[in-house]
Amino acid sequence: MRITVMTLFAEMFDSFLQTSIVGRSLERGLASVDFVNYRDFAHDNYRHVDDTPFGGGNGMVMKCAPVMEALDSIRTEDSYVIMMNPAGTPLNQKKVRELAQKKHLVIMCGHYEGMDARIENHIDECISIGDYVLTGGEPAAMIVMDSVIRLLPGAIKEGSADDESYENGLLEYPQYTQPADFNGEKVPEVLLSGNHAKIKAWRLYQSLERTKKIRPDLYDAYELSKEEKKLLKKYGFESEKQ
Ligand code: ADE
Repeated sequence: MRITVMTLFAEMFDSFLQTSIVGRSLERGLASVDFVNYRDFAHDNYRHVDDTPFGGGNGMVMKCAPVMEALDSIRTEDSYVIMMNPAGTPLNQKKVRELAQKKHLVIMCGHYEGMDARIENHIDECISIGDYVLTGGEPAAMIVMDSVIRLLPGAIKEGSADDESYENGLLEYPQYTQPADFNGEKVPEVLLSGNHAKIKAWRLYQSLERTKKIRPDLYDAYELSKEEKKLLKKYGFESEKQ
C-alpha cells in the first residue's frame, strides 16, 4: 500500500514513522509513505496557501488552487482521497478495515480554520477521529495511518487483531500476565485452569459485561450467535442476551 500525506508539516510525522510496529512495517516494505507540501504549489512570491474567509469571520481558509494542484500532482487511478476534518464521518474499525484495502491512500490534512469547501467536491470522503477539534489534521492522519498499517498482512502476528476491541462489535476482555498475585490482587482463577473452552466463555462474558457498562450502544447492537449462547450456558455465565 502507498500512503501520501498532504500537509504543511511533514516533520511532525518523523518519529511516528520510525517507531514500533509502524516503523517496522515501513522498513519491511508493507507500506510506503510520501508527502506533498501544499506550499510547493503556492502561486505568489510569499508562498501563501490560505486567505481570509468570504463573508467574514475568524481565521484563514486554505485556498483551492494550491490544494487541488498538490492533489493532481500525486493522484492516480488507484488513489482514494480522504480529508481529515472534524465534520467528517466518524472513524471506526470498520472504516479502518475498508481503508486498509486501498492501493493508494491519500490523506489531506487541513489547517487554520479550514479548507475552501469546494475542495470537498474532488475527494472521496471527509473523516473525523472524534467529537473534538485539533489545531490541524496531522495527529488525526497519524491515527488513520497507525490503525490502517497495523492491519496490513505481516504487520502484526496473524490473528492477533481478530479478538480486539471493536473487531467483533464488542470491547475486548481484560488481559493479565505474570505475576498471578500482585500485592494480593489475583488473576481470575479460570485463566489458570487450562480449560480453554471455559476461558473462551469467560472472556466472552467479560466482553459482554464491559461493553454493556461502557458502550451500551454497541451492546444493544450485538447479537450472540447460537454457539456463543451455548458456550455461555455450558459454563454458567448468565447474560441478558440469552
Ligand atoms: N482536524 C481537526 N480536528 C479533527 C478531528 N477531530 N478529526 C479529524 N481531523 C481533524
